Amino acid sequence: MNITNYFSDQLLIGKTVFITGGGGDITLGMAKNYAAVGANLAICGRTQETLDHAAAELQDLGASVYAEACDVRDFAALSKVMANTRAALGPIGVLVCGAAGNFLAPAEKLSANGFKSVVDIDLLGSFNACRAAFEQLKETRGSILFISAGQAFTPYHMQVHAGAAKAGIDNMMKNLALEWGRFGIRCNSVAPGPIDDTEGMKRLSVAGMDELFKKAIPLQRYGTKDDIGQAAVFLASPLASYITGTVLVVDGGQNLPGGGIMGMLIELNSRSEKGDE
Ligand code: COA
Repeated sequence: MNITNYFSDQLLIGKTVFITGGGGDITLGMAKNYAAVGANLAICGRTQETLDHAAAELQDLGASVYAEACDVRDFAALSKVMANTRAALGPIGVLVCGAAGNFLAPAEKLSANGFKSVVDIDLLGSFNACRAAFEQLKETRGSILFISAGQAFTPYHMQVHAGAAKAGIDNMMKNLALEWGRFGIRCNSVAPGPIDDTEGMKRLSVAGMDELFKKAIPLQRYGTKDDIGQAAVFLASPLASYITGTVLVVDGGQNLPGGGIMGMLIELNSRSEKGDE
């Protein structure tokens, strides 16, 4: 993937950006955008092989990279990876809590353990990362970026687990912004909408509804990984130095119809059947 970088390539020069789940589609897109502005990258995730592929792509962009496998649900393991990151790349200046798990499941069929798994990875995993990185972030007066989603503020069918986890993340983000502002640590969330060419979209999209779905998005297209990566760079950079405690929704307006999105799809379907624009 080539990065079209609109920022100075020195914007985050020498800063260490630590991304949990950093081998994923959207998170690797973020990492590439951070690399394009001069940052060093540390990535963790559950599978070393995935991380190694991601690290090679980041190194191709000229970044210094540290990649070590761990599960964000394991606080001790995550703390160790962060200590190793410090030794390899210097103290963490930007933490991105990107590790997440999701699937579609109707609430009445979702097991208690299924609900717990997603909340544990997304919400508990994000807290673990923040808590483990705190001393380094305090030292650098750094910033934290959480990954939210439309499910945090709009109920979606078959997403009770993800909605609960993401709403919890946004609430935690605001609490940490409140408590850690005095250490110079800023906390914000980015809430991606439907992003093209990602595992999430493959899992969550409705077969045969792609074109209709795009028409239901005010900006009439799916987002790109760079759309999210550029928002992530902005929020972590001095350009956002007075921004903390906020959720930046990067979804082309997809959530503006709120819970009425399904109704909007039905309406669009009926309009297209009638040949209306
Ligand atoms: N529908 C319903 N329940 C599901 C499920 C699905 N598609 N996938 C997992 N679960 C349930 C499992 O049945 C299990 O519950 P049980 O013990 O009551 O049977 C529980 O979730 C834990 O599943 P498991 O796979 O053992 O957990 P894990 O911690 O290894 O992984 C996920 C959890 C969410 C990460 C896993 O589902 C996954 O690998 N997802 C794909 C990767 C992904 O989510 N990428 C991000 C896309 S946005």
